[in-house]
Amino acid sequence: MTDAPAMPSPEELRELERLAVSVATEAGRLVLDRPGDLGVASTKSSGTDIVTVMDERAQDLIRTRLAAARPADGFHGEEVGGSARAESSITWVVDPIDGTVNYLYDIPAYAVSVAAVVGDPTVPGSWHPVAGAVVGPALGETYRARVGGGAFRRRGQGPESAIAPSGCTSLALSLVGTGFSYDAALRRWGAQVLVETLPLIRDIRRIGSAALDLCHVADGSLDGYYERGLNPWDLAAGWLVATEAGARAIEVPTSELTWAAAPGIAEELERVVRAAIGRVPAVGQPSGSTEG
Ligand code: IPD
Ligand code: CA
Repeated sequence: MTDAPAMPSPEELRELERLAVSVATEAGRLVLDRPGDLGVASTKSSGTDIVTVMDERAQDLIRTRLAAARPADGFHGEEVGGSARAESSITWVVDPIDGTVNYLYDIPAYAVSVAAVVGDPTVPGSWHPVAGAVVGPALGETYRARVGGGAFRRRGQGPESAIAPSGCTSLALSLVGTGFSYDAALRRWGAQVLVETLPLIRDIRRIGSAALDLCHVADGSLDGYYERGLNPWDLAAGWLVATEAGARAIEVPTSELTWAAAPGIAEELERVVRAAIGRVPAVGQPSGSTEG
């Protein structure tokens, strides 16, 4: 068994959180301004898994800013050329635009997600987010969290406030988010799990950004969320925001099944989703996934 990665000091955690907010905010402004060509630059795991020019530009900006502020840290970003090994104990896990399809269609539910993690984000189960920010520039929302520091949201130019999950205690009355990955087999599997789950809840939302889904569980605008096939950059910052806000969530962030929920329905939601999974024929991991 490997030792758990060392936790940064309280001062360093504050610095990491401040830096996450500042680079995600700057990248969010760039993404929102949409300067220059907005087209699709390439596709990744499937024809619908797109990279916009702005994904690449935003990742470059974030990487440059982080390297200037903390040159020894590692980097693990969603887009090509996005990895550098850490010489310090910290690696930045970055999704320059989470909700890229929404961005392409000018639907405002997209976000820049920046997280500082300890451990190696390319090795499932060996890493842990310690500070992070999720900035939705078209929504005017900024979420931040660091380990032990609670979770906060700022809307527009308004004051920042501490957030907490909903008080929902009935799964039948819960609004639950989910997503479907880009892998065709995983999408079919996700739809089958949804057929089993939907009759047992108030309704489902497919918002299109896992980072925002997790932040919405954190502030009570969703009661729960589950998805399979996420990559570390989709969930690292949002998972920390959700858990620091007081949501219950899967203990180690993983692509196998990510879930987060208000404490009053967490146990039941996890049980219902796992039971649904048990009734649906299994599929393997998507080829693009870095987790097992
Ligand atoms: C996607 C979004 C979506 C989720 C997919 C992710 P991207 O990220 O988070 O909500 O369902 O699994 O890949 O491609 O927009 O960065
Ligand atoms: Ca993403």
